[in-house]
Amino acid sequence: MGIMSDVMAQNADYLFMIENATKAPSGHNTQPWLFRIGESEIDIYPNFSRELIAVDPRHRELFISLGCATENLCVAAQQKGYRTEVRVTNDSVIRILIAKDENVQTGTSLFPQIAVRQTNRSVYNGKIIPEDSIFQLKSIAVEPSVNVHFYKNGTLDYARIADMIYAGNRLQMNDKAFKTELAEWMRYNKKHQNKTRDGLSYATFGAPNVPLFIAKFVMSKAVNERIQNKGDREKIASSSHFVLFTTKDDTVEQWIALGRTLERLLLRSTKMNIANAYFNQPNEEAGLARDMAKLLQISNEYPTILIRLGYGKQMPYSLRRDYRLCILPTE
Ligand SMILES: Cc1cc2nc3c(=O)[nH]c(=O)nc-3n(C[C@H](O)[C@H](O)[C@H](O)COP(=O)(O)O)c2cc1C
Repeated sequence: MGIMSDVMAQNADYLFMIENATKAPSGHNTQPWLFRIGESEIDIYPNFSRELIAVDPRHRELFISLGCATENLCVAAQQKGYRTEVRVTNDSVIRILIAKDENVQTGTSLFPQIAVRQTNRSVYNGKIIPEDSIFQLKSIAVEPSVNVHFYKNGTLDYARIADMIYAGNRLQMNDKAFKTELAEWMRYNKKHQNKTRDGLSYATFGAPNVPLFIAKFVMSKAVNERIQNKGDREKIASSSHFVLFTTKDDTVEQWIALGRTLERLLLRSTKMNIANAYFNQPNEEAGLARDMAKLLQISNEYPTILIRLGYGKQMPYSLRRDYRLCILPTE
């Protein structure tokens, strides 16, 4: 009886960890994860049926998303008094070993931030983040294969990165496959968003809830190079810093490590009321990424994720599918 109730309590804890893992960010909010519960581990598998073949053909952003989910899972495990150890198998499965540990500390945990974190695509208020806050963000644990570079608004490098974003928009907004894929993952109004509980919700872009045909018409007019660059120019000017995440090599294991580091920084900045949003277009275009690395004098690194930081009003939250749909049957 005692053993049975222990198993049931542990199982409830594992479900809690998985639910929190699914609150992680993911490219186009595809939520490309699957979980398998073992006796003393949880495995995370890529769900390639949710891949973004146009924008992410090598699954780099998919594995970064799994890295973010891994980090959330570890933070949630810690919250319940478990120690974790993360391994990546040769066939790209993330194995998280989980063990009860009385010495696990929860006092400084970023757990409360998991539910609060959001991608905030609004125009920020232009305030520069104080140096001591940047110092705190720079002090997060960075995985060995990953580098994190900060660029302040007003510097030459900030302007160089902005130019790379505009160049990325030029390429992507004239790429039919990119635009078709983006449209497939748009959730145009409340009904649409609530039906799928994934994808890019109209609400997170600050758009109104209008009938589908109107929303689709407006979007078809808005998704072009000129309008995208105009909006991005304003967002870039209103932000305080860019943060560029790079890997030393370009491997699955390092993408996962980058995802973990990224989520750590996002949770920490959320705690400090600092908003974040992505500008990943220069990293998604290999030629631009190489040029950007050269300009920033980091030619021996792979630019992989670019975000902006600043201060902005909270936006509506994007939804998640029921986490139980992402759990594979045990073997
Ligand atoms: C690897 C990765 C790449 C992303 N790239 C972009 C991007 O280029 N532009 C953007 O607006 N959002 C980007 N996002 C943010 C996702 O769209 C966002 O996480 C998702 O819609 C869920 O919303 P949430 O972060 O508010 O929970 C990216 C997220 C991840 C993890």
